[in-house]
Amino acid sequence: MEYLDFRSDTVTMPTEEMRRAMASAVVGDDVYGDDPTVNELQEYAAKLTGMEAALYVCSGTMGNLVSLMSHCARGEGVLMGVNSHTWKNEAGNAAFIAGVMPYPLDDSSGLPGEESIKSSYQPKGNIHYANTVLLVLENTHNSAGGLPAEAGPFARAASLAHDMDMKVHIDGARIFDAVAFFGNDVKDYTRAADSVQICLSKGLGAPMGSIVCGNRDFIDRARKYRKSLGGGQRQSGIAAAAGLIALRDMRDRLSEDHENAALMADLLLEYGFDVEYVPRRTNMVYFRAGEKFGDADSLIRQCRGKGLLIGSAGAGRIRMVTHLGLDGDSVRNAAAILKDIDA
Ligand SMILES: Cc1ncc(COP(=O)(O)O)c(C=O)c1O
Repeated sequence: MEYLDFRSDTVTMPTEEMRRAMASAVVGDDVYGDDPTVNELQEYAAKLTGMEAALYVCSGTMGNLVSLMSHCARGEGVLMGVNSHTWKNEAGNAAFIAGVMPYPLDDSSGLPGEESIKSSYQPKGNIHYANTVLLVLENTHNSAGGLPAEAGPFARAASLAHDMDMKVHIDGARIFDAVAFFGNDVKDYTRAADSVQICLSKGLGAPMGSIVCGNRDFIDRARKYRKSLGGGQRQSGIAAAAGLIALRDMRDRLSEDHENAALMADLLLEYGFDVEYVPRRTNMVYFRAGEKFGDADSLIRQCRGKGLLIGSAGAGRIRMVTHLGLDGDSVRNAAAILKDIDA
């Protein structure tokens, strides 16, 4: 059966252009810094984000982890949202690999508020606490429904952290969704921060890889941590060739995903689903099966039987994500399948 796959924007297949670029990529040993395609991708990313340097890594999780390790010493504290990917979905690596102490922030509406940042902050000098040296901001915020942060409030949160002598890392897995949504520049976010991790393998459509950007010292440290985690790869220009196309040419298409997600949300609402409305959305729709359709697991199972894949987000929440492999007709067909599910 051919499935309509709405589980995630990570399920996309590389485009023909990406496959051609991968086949003909000029490569070298990247652990020696000798892969011209990886170097080109890193230089392009650094320029795009306005940062000094960049590092190609295997995944978003590795990008966030090497960033935590490069900003913090073991035993130091990091502020992050309790609904953030770094807190919930990276297998506890902040604690058990980086050895840092995560402090929870209220990020129920995406960007953590000033009060939350201030009250979780632990200054240097008190021997009872892991002093907080880093704030992580996720943009767009996955669990908050793909919520993009506006540049103004984002910069204010970052500047508050800087005033308190903390660095700021952006988990920008989908930062270009925020950029496409507001029509602003990625530098509106990156200039407020010390580092950013950007996934190439989500809405941008590359088969793998993320890019981390920051200043040269930070990237030098991150390169060493990448190596220690087993992420130093050899002729990785094969993959970076697709990553370069993703970062260079696929950013503008993200607004199509947003239109499709908005259509999905409207249709789900029309058919009686309990759609989580957040003030602004990008490429995700979260909803509950609601009274009409019973429990989430049964809905997900029935949809699979009819050729539609949707994702469980835990606690009865269901997530649908639009992407490169889905268009308006895919959305209408998916909605028709959902409408016909027996409660
Ligand atoms: C916000 C966010 N950050 C980081 C990641 C991690 O990316 P990866 O799956 O490439 O490790 C994800 C993955 O979905 C994500 O949604």
